[in-house]
Amino acid sequence: MDREAAHAFARQRCLKETTYRHLVLVEGVMRSLARRFDEDKDLWGLTGLFHDLDQDHTGDDGAQHARMAAGWLREAGVDERVVNGVLAHAYDDYRTDRMSRAVVHADAVAGLLVASALVRPQRAAGMKVSSVKKKLKERSFAPGVNPDEVTGAEATLGLPLDEFLAVSIEGLQEVAPEIEL
Ligand SMILES: [Fe+2]
Repeated sequence: MDREAAHAFARQRCLKETTYRHLVLVEGVMRSLARRFDEDKDLWGLTGLFHDLDQDHTGDDGAQHARMAAGWLREAGVDERVVNGVLAHAYDDYRTDRMSRAVVHADAVAGLLVASALVRPQRAAGMKVSSVKKKLKERSFAPGVNPDEVTGAEATLGLPLDEFLAVSIEGLQEVAPEIEL
């Protein structure tokens, strides 16, 4: 599935614009991470784009979330590595390779990046690692974000926090025009 078709697929399944924008942002972060590791950007991007595909249908229903998406993706013939990555963001058992572990961190940092961009008049443009890091320490700043899932990129991916944030900010900036940030 090429990027344009993948975006159309995601759009069809998101009922809320905020969900769609979250998907595109996590896609951007995943593509940037893939570049850092010299991995397959398209594959990593699809995993990011599809990770919360069923969010507006399952909500926080622990039993269905990600599984519904996995069903849709398999039906559409999407690469099984992507399906595994989508399941991995919700269930530990699927965190079997670098991509399926990375999506957990990309998902978490996305929430922090959006919150950080929204308090800046220039949004994503010129965003600095130091300011995002400061926000991470303010527990009340992005209450939906688990800070351990952001800092955990060091243990899981071998990326020190500063580098993880820098790579993530780059990913944000690449998709910023698409998500009005
Ligand atoms: Fe997510």
